[in-house]
Amino acid sequence: MTIFARIAGTGSYLPEKVLTNADLEKLVDTSDEWIVSRSGIRERHLVGDGQTTSDMAVEAAKKAMEAAGVDASELELIIVGTTTPDFIFPSTACLVQNRLGALGCAAFDVNAACSGFLFGLTVADKFIRSGSVKTALVIGAESLTRMLDWSDRNTCVLFGDGAGAVVLKADSETGILSTHLHADGSKKDLLHCPVGVSAGFNEGEKNAGVRVLMTGSDVFKYAVKALDSVVEETLAANGLDRHAIDWLIPHQANLRIIEATAKRLDMPMERVIVTVHKHGNTSSGSVPLALDEAVRSGKVQRGQLLLLEAFGGGFTWGAALLRY
Ligand code: UT7
Repeated sequence: MTIFARIAGTGSYLPEKVLTNADLEKLVDTSDEWIVSRSGIRERHLVGDGQTTSDMAVEAAKKAMEAAGVDASELELIIVGTTTPDFIFPSTACLVQNRLGALGCAAFDVNAACSGFLFGLTVADKFIRSGSVKTALVIGAESLTRMLDWSDRNTCVLFGDGAGAVVLKADSETGILSTHLHADGSKKDLLHCPVGVSAGFNEGEKNAGVRVLMTGSDVFKYAVKALDSVVEETLAANGLDRHAIDWLIPHQANLRIIEATAKRLDMPMERVIVTVHKHGNTSSGSVPLALDEAVRSGKVQRGQLLLLEAFGGGFTWGAALLRY
């Protein structure tokens, strides 16, 4: 008997503080017109003083567990996709596990930059499909604005903070149909934060400090091609015509990248979940935040076919096709 991992509940959390493009105009040489026309972003949420990635992850998780009707004692696996953990260790997943009171189950982080949620979802899917666990919590949570250089207009206007979560349950009928992950480490320098414990925090040729560095236009071009390719791969693996998809739930980095993928699928933008204008790029948080918003607004209905995709530093990218 085939076992599927079905999304039993979704949840999300956005920090209170909102930073608008007008606010950014006071910080760097930019304009609302430039940010909106190049990225689609109008505002983003910022993590509060003293607030951490795990704080946001816990809030999103509680909502997903409530929606799924799942108690902490039922969780057998917790995965947090994040590139901005509270600490080097313990993992954010262990911090979340403790706060939820789900002690004893496996808990670990996945770092795949902006693709972290999709990579985590894929790992949890494999655990459930293999019969190893029946109930899993997958979270994408980031406080990426903590590692932005607020004097670099190339990056500081693009990112925001937030978290999204799903509870997956083993199901005999339907759920995640396939997942497809990729990485290209040769493009590591195009989007990175090249400091760390073993490389040193203030070394390296750019003496970067803890901040995001990006060659935006190169990332843009590669992302469009990689997402086109993984979307094709996903459709082919499932023997589906591109018109079969009910909703595209893309990574929210840039409206123009989202529109390019939608065009490839011949999908009207009314069938695409877009949150980038309100959230900015929340990295691993972006796909589960968009999914939760789509579910709670009543757009996404049970039985519909959803295509999730993401692209991030590494490079990493992937897609998941699921019947909700
Ligand atoms: O989530 C991980 C994946 N990340 C992404 O997918 C992001 C991918 N990249 C992008 O979204 C876009 O490349 C950006 C939105 C970052 C930039 O858009 P672009 O159309 O690729 O612009 P560009 O980088 O080619 O820059 C065009 C111009 C430059 O000026 P010059 O050299 O033409 O005079 C930049 O200096 O825009 C300038 N610029 C800005 N101007 C006003 C760069 N940032 C800003 C800014 N405000 N914030």
